[in-house]
Amino acid sequence: MLLVIPDFLNQSEVRDFRATLAQAPWRDGRDSAGSLSIQVKDNQQVDDDSSIAHDLGNRILGMLGRNALFVSAALPNRFFPPRFNRYAGGGHYWTHIDAALMYSDRLSQAVRSDLSATLFLADPEDYDGGELVVETAFGAQEVKLAAGALVLYPSSSLHRVEPVTRGARLAAILWLQSLVRDAAQRALLFDLDQSVQALSRQLPPTDPELLRLSGVYHNLLRMWAEA
Ligand code: NI
Repeated sequence: MLLVIPDFLNQSEVRDFRATLAQAPWRDGRDSAGSLSIQVKDNQQVDDDSSIAHDLGNRILGMLGRNALFVSAALPNRFFPPRFNRYAGGGHYWTHIDAALMYSDRLSQAVRSDLSATLFLADPEDYDGGELVVETAFGAQEVKLAAGALVLYPSSSLHRVEPVTRGARLAAILWLQSLVRDAAQRALLFDLDQSVQALSRQLPPTDPELLRLSGVYHNLLRMWAEA
């Protein structure tokens, strides 16, 4: 499932993120690449240990926790801290798969990457190329979103970033371990939760069918979640 959250950041937050990132310590993205991906990656990243990466990353994580659509879809358990990257001058990231287990000095245990997210920070008119291409069961999906929009996609999918041939593509990426490991179970819970939410806006909270559906949601979550 690819889920787009269109206005994750508003335009004033986008400007603020860009202004802060303009002051950040950028380095070659190959520094954080694994042995396979180092051959396919050509971008720049903000130093993960910098205060700018910490502060902006924590802002994103706080906002994710308050975003009902994101929480419903991802059922997040643990996050790998957001990373900030920039692609320009032909920069790209050829087809790869994200590492299953991700380690950081800032985390006490590894994060299993169930879901990946990209937060677009550059306006799409300001660069050519740079599409995120995710290979799914329904073919390759191209994603190039407005600044402030976020896309969530399975970390188990092959994906790439097309070369940026004009301007610069600025984005944040992050990974998370979900409370529900199985993507099909997570998708069912998301559908059910969305329906329960919609019905709860139309029916009184005491409606017995609404209560039963809500019970089914929580009991499935109880059955499938690993906290
Ligand atoms: Ni990736």
